[in-house]
Amino acid sequence: MRLLVTGCCGFIGSAFLRRALADSGVERLINLDVLTYSGRRENDLEVRDDPRYRFVEGDIADAALVSSLFSEEQPTAIVNFAAESHVDRSLFAARRFVKTNIEGTLCLLEAARAEQERSGSPIRFVHVSTDEVYGDLGPDDPAFSETTPLDPRNPYSATKAGADLLVQAFAATHKLEALVTRSSNNYGPRQYPEKLVPLMITNAIDDLPLPIYGDGLNVRDWLWVEDNCAGVWAALTRGTSGEVYNFGGESERTNLDVVTGILSALGKPESLITYVKDRPGHDRRYAIDCTKARTTLDFTPGLRFEEGLERTVRWYVDNQDWWRPLKGVSFQEYYQQHYGKLGLST
Ligand code: NAD
Ligand code: DAU
Repeated sequence: MRLLVTGCCGFIGSAFLRRALADSGVERLINLDVLTYSGRRENDLEVRDDPRYRFVEGDIADAALVSSLFSEEQPTAIVNFAAESHVDRSLFAARRFVKTNIEGTLCLLEAARAEQERSGSPIRFVHVSTDEVYGDLGPDDPAFSETTPLDPRNPYSATKAGADLLVQAFAATHKLEALVTRSSNNYGPRQYPEKLVPLMITNAIDDLPLPIYGDGLNVRDWLWVEDNCAGVWAALTRGTSGEVYNFGGESERTNLDVVTGILSALGKPESLITYVKDRPGHDRRYAIDCTKARTTLDFTPGLRFEEGLERTVRWYVDNQDWWRPLKGVSFQEYYQQHYGKLGLST
């Protein structure tokens, strides 16, 4: 398999990279990543010396670049992780989310379609999406299944839903072997410290306030990042074209449960918890029914949440050189440093 994987300098993509290169069936792996603020420094990636690996710094929405990369490398499969991924940022920089998440995905689909027509061989296209596209659940609603109607409620999830529909349209109309995976909240090492788990761990280490939105009773389902990667790998190698697969951790927790778990793992006081103004349009509950992935892909959420959280806390305690330079920079500074440099607007 000649794999083009996008966004492998980010949290989930970097875990997927390690997993994919552990498979001898992968003869080539190209990582296309534009290195936004959340892209890990590429020279941190442990796989850099693998002769099958190549890094290309570039934007998935750059049609000329993507097209020339396809001509040069002739990938037989694509996995698309690259995205703007933070809901809070999408509230004030939605245009950037449309550009990467929708236009970028379309650009990859068009290049894959052209390559499939040129080579006459089927191309596999796995698009990595999110449970957020299904919208919001009440406390007693059944968990999201793959047939739950899409009902995105923030600019991030709206752009992810738009991309999912494009992927399914290309599977139907252009016979691309395309499929979509939708997972719940991932957690684990190397997540950018803006998301709930790493933000709270890194603040607690420094005895800073832990800002909980609203009443702290919003519920998320938590999935160990490597379990999601195992699911994406299974979809890539065994999934059925045109299908959607949900992956969840079967670990619904309130935000307050998560934060008190972190404080207890670090031996820090609950007085650090600070209730702040709620996120606009804050979805109350997400829950995932992953029966289809269990029965057709042998997917299992392997790691228990409490154990995964302990491991994650330990990683952030032991790897402060990794996250300290990323803390304390305002959103405006991020955008100037990263998007300004790239000549991109928000
Ligand atoms: P992340 O923000 O950590 O990483 C995103 C990566 O994509 C970064 O390396 C970034 O540089 C790269 N990127 C962004 N825009 C790009 C562009 N235009 N061209 C090329 N590269 C670009 O995100 P993550 O948490 O690793 O999420 C990966 C994927 O999984 C996303 O598609 C996200 O929507 C999805 N997802 C994430 C979660 C979660 O809990 N983190 C859950 C479900 C689905
Ligand atoms: O459900 C999958 C999604 O999970 C992914 O598609 C997104 O890429 C990922 O960012 C994540 O979205 P959430 O909005 O659920 O994650 P976040 O870590 O931003 O927030 C988790 C919960 O914690 C949510 O209810 C908001 C709350 N929160 C978050 C932050 C950053 C707080 O209470 N305080 C905070 O400071």
